[in-house]
Amino acid sequence: MNDMNKATLDYYVELIDNKLLELTRSKPELQGQVVEAMEYSLQAGGKRLRPVLMLEFCRMCGERQPEKYAEIACSIELIHTFSLIHDDLPCMDDDDYRRGKPSCHKAFPENIALLAGDALNTLAFEVIANSAMNGVISADKAVMLISVLARAVGTDGMIGGQVIDLKYENKEIDVDTLNILQTCKTGALIEAACVMGVILGDKLEAIPFAADYAQAMGRAFQIVDDILDVTGTFEEFGKPIGSDSEQHKNTYVSLLGLDKSEQIAKQLTVQALGHLKYFEDSVFLTELTSDMLTRRS
Ligand code: IPE
Ligand code: IPE
Ligand code: MG
Ligand code: MG
Ligand code: MG
Repeated sequence: MNDMNKATLDYYVELIDNKLLELTRSKPELQGQVVEAMEYSLQAGGKRLRPVLMLEFCRMCGERQPEKYAEIACSIELIHTFSLIHDDLPCMDDDDYRRGKPSCHKAFPENIALLAGDALNTLAFEVIANSAMNGVISADKAVMLISVLARAVGTDGMIGGQVIDLKYENKEIDVDTLNILQTCKTGALIEAACVMGVILGDKLEAIPFAADYAQAMGRAFQIVDDILDVTGTFEEFGKPIGSDSEQHKNTYVSLLGLDKSEQIAKQLTVQALGHLKYFEDSVFLTELTSDMLTRRS
């Protein structure tokens, strides 16, 4: 990534990191442990890709100060972190490490990790609603954002994808079903991030372009995650290598092999970049999208 784009990325990430810290600042004595668990997982690192996408789509739609929506952008990171905490639980992927640290249920009791995920889920919607209460966005806009986000989390989105993922453990899958699985479990939140950015940027006619970009990019992103589960290192990836085959998961790599998976991820990235042409200034996002293909973490 060139220096200017790197500076933009660092700026966004710092903005998000600081806002996330504020969101879990109060620790009431009795409920303190669950707030600590939320904070633990939020602060464990992470690329902050989804909030960065939201802010950048907002900017690409003409907003000069996307940073005023940093708290709203955190909503998608809260949801994403909730999905990761639950994804690692023994009843799900049973993974002991996340973002280079013990998973939430390893650092805290399992019941507290479960509740921390639940609390992050509701906090996301509270944050958006509060932004309308505080006059940062209109009530109409808050309803649109909440509608987009809720759908992306639920049975038609991430949770639905996780259900298909579990259903096909130890079972043969066809490529079409695998595409639906990945589009839901990973693509839905990435799409919500991009579409929410467009809504914040007040350019509703751009929604289909943002959604098309996100669907292609989201599928490429999950395929790269599946590839790194085989070719990555724990030090870089921050989560256990070989988890998918251990859990008998269906992935692009298990179905089509490494070479074909890499080829498809590349094709999808080219498609995603094509959809960015609609936007006037997509220099940063073009480079970020390309970088996601060769990421190691
Ligand atoms: C991991 O997402 C889960 C997937 C959907 C592949 P990220 O790779 O964005 O995880 P963090 O947020 O950087 O830890
Ligand atoms: C899960 O996919 C995506 C989520 C909805 C959390 P994975 O199970 O492959 O994600 P990682 O590899 O554990 O991050
Ligand atoms: Mg999983
Ligand atoms: Mg997992
Ligand atoms: Mg994975």
